[in-house]
Amino acid sequence: MNPGSSSPANRVRIFDTSLRDGEQSPGCSMTSPQKLRFAHALAELGVDVIEAGFPASSDADRDAVRAIAREVRGATVATLARCHAGDIAACASALEGAVHPRIHVFISTSPLHREHKLGLSREQVLERAVMGVGLARQYADDVEFSAEDALRTEPDFLAQVCGAALAAGARTLNIPDTVGYTTPSEIRALFEYLHSNVIGADEAIFSAHCHNDLGLAVANSLAAIEGGARQVECTINGIGERAGNCALEELVMALRVRSGYYEAHTRIDTRRLVPTSRLLSRITGMAVQRNKAVVGQNAFAHESGIHQHGMLKHRGTYEIMAPEDVGWAQSQMVMGRHSGRAALNDRLQALGFALEEAQLNSVFAAFKTLAEKKREVFDADLEALVLGADARV
Ligand code: KIV
Ligand code: ZN
Repeated sequence: MNPGSSSPANRVRIFDTSLRDGEQSPGCSMTSPQKLRFAHALAELGVDVIEAGFPASSDADRDAVRAIAREVRGATVATLARCHAGDIAACASALEGAVHPRIHVFISTSPLHREHKLGLSREQVLERAVMGVGLARQYADDVEFSAEDALRTEPDFLAQVCGAALAAGARTLNIPDTVGYTTPSEIRALFEYLHSNVIGADEAIFSAHCHNDLGLAVANSLAAIEGGARQVECTINGIGERAGNCALEELVMALRVRSGYYEAHTRIDTRRLVPTSRLLSRITGMAVQRNKAVVGQNAFAHESGIHQHGMLKHRGTYEIMAPEDVGWAQSQMVMGRHSGRAALNDRLQALGFALEEAQLNSVFAAFKTLAEKKREVFDADLEALVLGADARV
């Protein structure tokens, strides 16, 4: 590990928004008890901030936030508000009981949103941002400001709004790529620009919030870290609006596996990644794709003969992280038509068989015939093959 990566200045705060941005996407809605259960799991995982909901959006959201604020410990509990007095008051009331409450206020800053969504001028947006942050500060010390659609906002205006939000009392400045439009080099340059051009930037924590419309949310978040972001907003399994948000498990493992490169670290207990991913899938009924990085069923599965052979000699040949480090029990050698003799022999030994050369050859031939017919050959199939060949020792 690079010596610089463990310094406090290089700590990246993980802000999980599975219960807000994730939950508001199709197929992911959760009941209040489910949200509470998942919030406990997020605290155990070690996230720094749990965005629990958007209290002004529904009574159910308000109730869920209230329960989480009262019960869940070990993480800041954040709630979302537009720069409206009613939204902000709803956040403050729902957060009563939280040890570390945060109010997260946002307003769109891009020309497209200003003109077509808000019907506001630059000056009016600036004024509302300052009003929203100031009002939120009357209820909470910890206030985050988000410039919605920041990546399509004129950089000089974005810097001006961010500076005004800081002066009004915001501590965290979130720069959302709301529609997943940016690229890694562009977002890195924007974070560098903001660091140099926002008045008061040295006192602020800059945050990235990337959507995945072009499949770049994780890459863009990592690039934002290179540009100086020290908070990343993400969700378990990458759930979220449209194509989702930055996947927490991928971002965290990229920082860990490539710590020498990124010089940044989180406080996530990575062994809880798979259990937390599974819990979310069970709650929402939304399965993760088989080949999903880190938490997908194939993430540590090997079928090809060449790969299985390599793995038997040294795991590092085809694995860049240990399955146990992210919460899997072990790597999986999938026995199928691409598997070779060495992997078959290894699996048979694990099942308690020690075959002579000739017996192994005959079982291998029978295995290949069976594997042509079946997608996966299970342990019970292998046992039947060995017993059928009368080769048991
Ligand atoms: O994507 C976005 O811009 C958001 C903000 C409300 C933070 O989710
Ligand atoms: Zn979002």
